[in-house]
Amino acid sequence: MKYGYFDDTKREYVITRPDTPAPWANYLGSPEYGALISNNAGGYSFAKSGANGRILRYIFNQFDQPGRYMYIRDNKTQDYWSASWQPVGKDLEAYKSECHHGTAYTKMLADYSGIHSEALYYVPLDQTYEVWNLRLTNQSAEDRELTVTGYAEFTNNNNYEQDQINLQYSQFITRTEFHENRIRHVIHGNLDWAKEGEEVDDELVIDRFFALTGATVDSYCGDREEFLGRYHGYNNPQGVEKGQLSGEMCYNQNGCGALSTVIRLKPNETKDIAFLVGMKGNKEAKEIIVKYENTTQQCEKELNELITYWHGRLSHFQVQTPSAEFNTMINTWNAYNCFITFIWSRAASFFYCGLRNGYGYRDTVQDIQGIIHLAPEMALEKIRFMLSAQVDNGGGLPLVKFNHNAGHEDTPEDASYVKETGHPEYRADDALWLFPTVYKYLAESGNMEFLDEVIPFANKDEGTVYEHLKRAIDFSMNRLGVHGMPAGLYADWNDCLRLGKNGESAFVALQFYYAMDIIKRCAEYKKDTQYGIYLDEKKNMLGKIINECCWNEDRFIRGYTQTGEIIGCKTDPEANMWLNPQSWAVISGLASEEQADTALDTVYQRLNTEYGAILMDPPYYKHAFEGALAVIYNAGSKENAGIFSQSQGWIILAEALRGHGDRAFTYFMENAPAAQNEKADIRKLEPYCYGQFTEGKDSPHFGRSHVHWLTGTASTIMVGCVEGILGMRPDFSGLCISPSIPKEWDTFTAKKEFRGKHLHIQVYNHNQKESGCVELLVNGEAMKGNYIPFEKMTENTDIVLTIS
Ligand code: NOJ
Repeated sequence: MKYGYFDDTKREYVITRPDTPAPWANYLGSPEYGALISNNAGGYSFAKSGANGRILRYIFNQFDQPGRYMYIRDNKTQDYWSASWQPVGKDLEAYKSECHHGTAYTKMLADYSGIHSEALYYVPLDQTYEVWNLRLTNQSAEDRELTVTGYAEFTNNNNYEQDQINLQYSQFITRTEFHENRIRHVIHGNLDWAKEGEEVDDELVIDRFFALTGATVDSYCGDREEFLGRYHGYNNPQGVEKGQLSGEMCYNQNGCGALSTVIRLKPNETKDIAFLVGMKGNKEAKEIIVKYENTTQQCEKELNELITYWHGRLSHFQVQTPSAEFNTMINTWNAYNCFITFIWSRAASFFYCGLRNGYGYRDTVQDIQGIIHLAPEMALEKIRFMLSAQVDNGGGLPLVKFNHNAGHEDTPEDASYVKETGHPEYRADDALWLFPTVYKYLAESGNMEFLDEVIPFANKDEGTVYEHLKRAIDFSMNRLGVHGMPAGLYADWNDCLRLGKNGESAFVALQFYYAMDIIKRCAEYKKDTQYGIYLDEKKNMLGKIINECCWNEDRFIRGYTQTGEIIGCKTDPEANMWLNPQSWAVISGLASEEQADTALDTVYQRLNTEYGAILMDPPYYKHAFEGALAVIYNAGSKENAGIFSQSQGWIILAEALRGHGDRAFTYFMENAPAAQNEKADIRKLEPYCYGQFTEGKDSPHFGRSHVHWLTGTASTIMVGCVEGILGMRPDFSGLCISPSIPKEWDTFTAKKEFRGKHLHIQVYNHNQKESGCVELLVNGEAMKGNYIPFEKMTENTDIVLTIS
């Protein structure tokens, strides 16, 4: 069953059936002023903090309500509906609608009883309020009189938990007022004698507004219970039913903004109005409202600005392959998903309720990788920030607070940090993610001076970027387990695998091996010969250890517990085969060709399913060791043999690095949202964004996916596809192009912005191979192998690579 389609020209996903299997969401604005909106207008908003800046209320894990509702009532027939299908939910035989989720805007079109409506929702570029622009057209043959009512449900407290839980308090600090064209919602209005910004008993007066522009307010209501009416719901508010709002304001209980206007339309006539929401005082609210006097023009201008901005961002890498699913993901939706994870981290979604109070180190450093090829300058800023959250011992702070104060932070060694963040220890992998991320940035941008930039450490001191990377090596080197591999510490990438402080993780060992390879390249660039020699010695030693201790016939094991038990051994009754050590053995360059192909074959045979490869097999049930926290999950879910989507990116990359284009593409397609557009009833999640995991074969809901949007999957798949399948691999001096594509692709093209040059790349595969290069021409000149030194690139560079 499908519910919509991709409009690649407009970079929109168009939902043609509003009764989707789950709320299908989009992101508006940024965490400065952030808004989530579903295809039925459900969702919430916040300023600065999902936890402490919540403005519009949303009830999680329920019926996708409340939302940004605009009701339309025909005053002659007294029939009413909403500009989004829900909440009124008219019969879909009579109510036709489309929801266009675009890049930072959502537009809902509806046709009902001869009235065509277009509801456009967005946060203007760089602004901190939201706009709901409603355009109504009378497509009937008669004059029509419509009462339009906008409804915004305010939280009673900026703090999400206080609003939801502490009702005996939060319901008695809230009130609303009406002023000419808007409802003013005030929290702690009783403190309005205090100077602006002055706290009384740690509390501030907080102002929100809900305004109407483009028409005059004919009636209004600021009290939720009064607007809805007892035993009514969002589908039939009494204020809408009557066609006239009562004028009641809120003093205690629940505030809302409800504004009605009567609109008269002749046949074919169109009118625009807009509702505005923000957390602003009277003066600022008025200034904002004035800008929308010419509603149509202003909203069109702002929408165009958003489109220009976002489409510009995405345009830096565009590809045309024979696969429509691949194109739409790489050109628009996976890329947009990468920007969303990069900007929003794990701040707010319909599953992350906004209470995370910082950035996870590994997640954030990984997220950066997804946008480096599109916006290296944005990546740079975040890399600096994450380096400044590295402790002087080289480890990463497990949680980097939103108000991170580089040079002055406590660390997991301090009880205060543990108390504040809940993270009791360093994790073994955090700082190791810096290596691929910093390397990708240097190679993409060519900004090698960055290695010499001085950046503070989180707690004290400072060092160049190169020094930061060296300290990250020291961190692992100073914490080796009994076999000589990095110690497990609190956990590695897998939150549910506690090998013990002195256990050893094969995954981290492989990451460490890879890290040494990367820093060796930096050492060579810096002509740091002594350090290079040191690295060679240590890396060889580690390689030997991994081979001796972790290779197990046809697979790499997952690690050792602190008591010496092997995890992921072929003969174990449960969890005897793990995905990540196999992909990372290839990515890191540790595996020999034979090991690599054997391990990848074992993955394909043992772990692959029609929705992607499961994280391990069989799931834990009766044989979990003490640190195998995955056993707490139902079999086939999350880390307990779920299809952990993030890991799909690594298996795509690993197969591609081995030149196995068919397999790499198979893994892409199995888990790609766009490839499941027609299986929406199984996948449930939006077909245009990734989720954290898909239920594996051990679940009765095999194929159902969860935890939309904010997942490291976005970046790992992007890297797997761009560096792996498409083979775009910059290094310090140029670009290697090494595609690994399905045999049946006879050609593909790519446009890539690279260090200020426009690359026009055409790849031919006349003889149905998966990888290889028989010829590479750069502006007509033949290159050696598949490598283009940067100095061969001109402002517009034509590149033709023939695989076969
Ligand atoms: C989700 C976490 O955000 C991420 O940091 C972790 O690596 C994965 N779960 C796997 O456990």
